[in-house]
Amino acid sequence: MATLPELLEWVVLSEAKHRIADTDLRHLFEQDPKRPEIYSLDGAGVHIDFSRHRLDDDALEKLWSVARAAQIPEWTARLYGGEKINGTEDRAALHMALRGDGSFDYKFAGESVMPMVLEERQRLLDGVAHARAEGRIKDVICLGIGGSHLGPELVVRALETKQAPQIRCHFVSNIDPLPLKRLMERLDAKATLVIVTSKTFTTQETMHGAAVARLWLERMLGAEQAKRHLVAVTAAPHRAVEWGVPERQVYRFWDWVGGRYSVWSSVGMPIALAFGEDAFTDLLEGAAEMDAHFREAELGENLPTLMALLEVWYTSAWGAQTHAVVPYREGLALLPLYLQQLEMESNGKNLTRDGDNVGTMTAPVIWGSSGTNGQHAYFQQLHQGTHLIPVDIILAPDPESPDAVAERMLAANALAQADALAFGTDPDSTGPVTSLCPGNRPSSVIVLEHFDAKNIGRLLALYEHKTFAASCLWDVNAFDQPGVEIGKRLAKTALKQLEGSEEASQLALRVRKGLRS
Ligand code: F6P
Repeated sequence: MATLPELLEWVVLSEAKHRIADTDLRHLFEQDPKRPEIYSLDGAGVHIDFSRHRLDDDALEKLWSVARAAQIPEWTARLYGGEKINGTEDRAALHMALRGDGSFDYKFAGESVMPMVLEERQRLLDGVAHARAEGRIKDVICLGIGGSHLGPELVVRALETKQAPQIRCHFVSNIDPLPLKRLMERLDAKATLVIVTSKTFTTQETMHGAAVARLWLERMLGAEQAKRHLVAVTAAPHRAVEWGVPERQVYRFWDWVGGRYSVWSSVGMPIALAFGEDAFTDLLEGAAEMDAHFREAELGENLPTLMALLEVWYTSAWGAQTHAVVPYREGLALLPLYLQQLEMESNGKNLTRDGDNVGTMTAPVIWGSSGTNGQHAYFQQLHQGTHLIPVDIILAPDPESPDAVAERMLAANALAQADALAFGTDPDSTGPVTSLCPGNRPSSVIVLEHFDAKNIGRLLALYEHKTFAASCLWDVNAFDQPGVEIGKRLAKTALKQLEGSEEASQLALRVRKGLRS
């Protein structure tokens, strides 16, 4: 497979970049007042206005030809066909099956995975329905990190801004003992469930927290009763049973589900516990709609592929090193954090699938916050800084909102920021030179139909498939994460070296001296 810089289509596109570099967005809009309609796409209920990007018709056409040359449709067929496209781990990547309803038959090694997916989903929903109906459990301590925490916490926090959860979810991810200590001080163990979520059931942070939480349950309830308050979600069920979770309380997913792609499995249990079966199945339904769109939409109409092309355009042709995501909905404030793992752990790589140098910049640093908050923190730099930082501005209107004026303010700010970034201050402005904003700063305006579980599912699946499509352009494996292993190994060695440093002061001294001392 040729790397991106080796593709003739990419070389041709790079020439278009030089032409575009001399044109600003204000001029492109003046040239074609219909630009907003032409440079917009709709799919699976999501609208993307990409008119404020450094593109003219010729460059856009050449971008799509790069997608064709990088064989994105062919790779998509391999992904949905259950091929082992995660070559280094000899695995498929079939997270789409987790939200399937059987209408598309996801297969692995010629065998449909849907029967076991649907069976385990029903098992999860039955378990959740029982816990919610019985009413004994009021709080859940959700232990897990990375993909075992970011997705569930994002969706739970999002839906909590619309309605109170029946069961309160407390996410403990870091090994820092203070948050868990505070929870164990204030929660009633008799009314608390502890969910240990770990695909491998070996992650240091999660397993240490799980041991501390189990000890608390045993001290408060006795060993036998404590077992009733333990649940495991893992792709290693045997390890969970060996660890002490009763088998009937172990929910499983599979090794063809990457951690950062796993919220759709039983990893999403906190969502169902907090808000019920419908919230979880609506999330799945929205994602499944985006799956169908990504699989079926032609190049030129394909939203995830468009977003991937834009990311690769700025990263690999314009040298942009970061990409900001700004959802104008407080409930989506955790989206940038979720996307950091999804995109940077998937595409933050320097070698192609075949182990060759990628020859270009790959995944940008993903960052951001909710809007309008970002406007009072870092938008100064977006408007007048020296970095090229493309921005995804996301709008999720909510007709059930209690405050129509505030909703209009959210939308007005989002659109104003997109225009200000694109067009800058009026060229005839007579203000001091330091007040001038150059404009020509690209953004996508992404609009959901509604702010609810279904549209959150659409949005997360949109970014999942964008991440995959971008991995095809950069020719990297989006589904492994070999770079995280070295830190884990060194941490084990360091832990041994720090043994005996009981006091914080001793520990600080040892750390100051460095681990090789
Ligand atoms: O960061 C490395 C990683 O393996 C992630 O990919 C994963 O989501 C996280 O650690 C937690 O892993 P596990 O779910 O196995 O505990």
